[in-house]
Amino acid sequence: MLDKINLALLDKDKDYLNSFVEYVASTKSQKLQVIAFTEYKYLLNYLSEGQKQVDVLLVSRDFYKDVSSNCSGVIILLDDGKAEVCTRYKNIINKYQYGDKLTAEIMSIFSKNTVANYNFDFDEKKTKIIGVYSPAGGTGTTTVAVGASIQLAWEGKDVFYLNLENMPSTPLYFTGEQNDNLSTILYFIKSKAKNLAIKLDGAKCVDPSYKIHYFLPPDSIYDFNEDVSKEIITLLRELKGTNQYDKIIVDMSCEINKNNLAVLQYCDEIILVLEQDKTSEIKLQCMLKELRLLSPKNNCEIIEKFHLVVNKYSADTMWDEGKLKISEKELLIKIPWVENLTTFKEGLCRLDMNSEFGKAIYQMLLNI
Ligand SMILES: Nc1ncnc2c1ncn2[C@@H]1O[C@H](COP(=O)(O)OP(=O)(O)O)[C@@H](O)[C@H]1O
Ligand SMILES: [Mg+2]
Repeated sequence: MLDKINLALLDKDKDYLNSFVEYVASTKSQKLQVIAFTEYKYLLNYLSEGQKQVDVLLVSRDFYKDVSSNCSGVIILLDDGKAEVCTRYKNIINKYQYGDKLTAEIMSIFSKNTVANYNFDFDEKKTKIIGVYSPAGGTGTTTVAVGASIQLAWEGKDVFYLNLENMPSTPLYFTGEQNDNLSTILYFIKSKAKNLAIKLDGAKCVDPSYKIHYFLPPDSIYDFNEDVSKEIITLLRELKGTNQYDKIIVDMSCEINKNNLAVLQYCDEIILVLEQDKTSEIKLQCMLKELRLLSPKNNCEIIEKFHLVVNKYSADTMWDEGKLKISEKELLIKIPWVENLTTFKEGLCRLDMNSEFGKAIYQMLLNI
């Protein structure tokens, strides 16, 4: 039984080839092997070395005519949409689409054209977007969002941590090298870049210890003072559309503005982080009033998705639990205050997930 498919790409567009190869290497390396050529003669050299097998050859329009009679694998035209596609092309796929959809289409064409028996499946993930929000500052939104991301990653889930704070603290928790950041990503989206999914994939960072994916913070926090709600939703849709992630955790700032409202509307679930104090009580009521006023229908849907969480909880503090309530919704969990929850090592902030905090996060995720 075969377990890897050998893909070869033939296209003059070096950037495209690089992002494709990088995408396959980072997400599909157990199933696909890929080699890329910018000239037909290089492909011929490669094939003439003997032993080398190509199962699927993806060819741009420029080369299609030359190769069709010379290759034994399944030949697929990478259509760039620039000219009409002629009927003599038997297998065609759209060059610019989500990495996962692209590979799924390649697999589908290949499976119809081969007699070999391959032992794998290309499951599509069902991504859930979980927002972490608080109407009050400093309640531990980021700590809960990062803790939830780490817990999920430990459980073997594929996690994207998307930080949309005004003052992002991402570099405190995760490390990674990358030229692009959230500003360049918003720019890609604004300029309607064609192969956005592949670009996003190339622009993300992967934290080496947790394997959590994320973007570096934007160049300037002014990027978030503007209305970028459309771009952020496009970003979330694209991330979801790649089918790479089990969960996308969105860490948000406190304001009720266009950006945050759009995100809250798009999330599947929302963790609402509060504290056992008057500020949280008042701000919760304020936020609910605001949401009901702004757009009753849409914002009721937001309220439905809230899971109330009290963070920094201490049993020693006198407090009337009934004050933190939304309609008939009870508190989902109390996350205890933990002394020395964070430690700094080599410039990075580490959360003590073996503490009562970690246990509460685990419990919280079981119920969302
Ligand atoms: N359960 C907890 N126990 C102890 N300290 C906490 C807890 N949750 C958060 N903190 C601390 O509270 C501070 C603010 O947390 P942060 O997540 O940055 O808040 P926010 O994102 O809401 O502004 C941080 O110093 C963090 O370590
Ligand atoms: Mg925060």
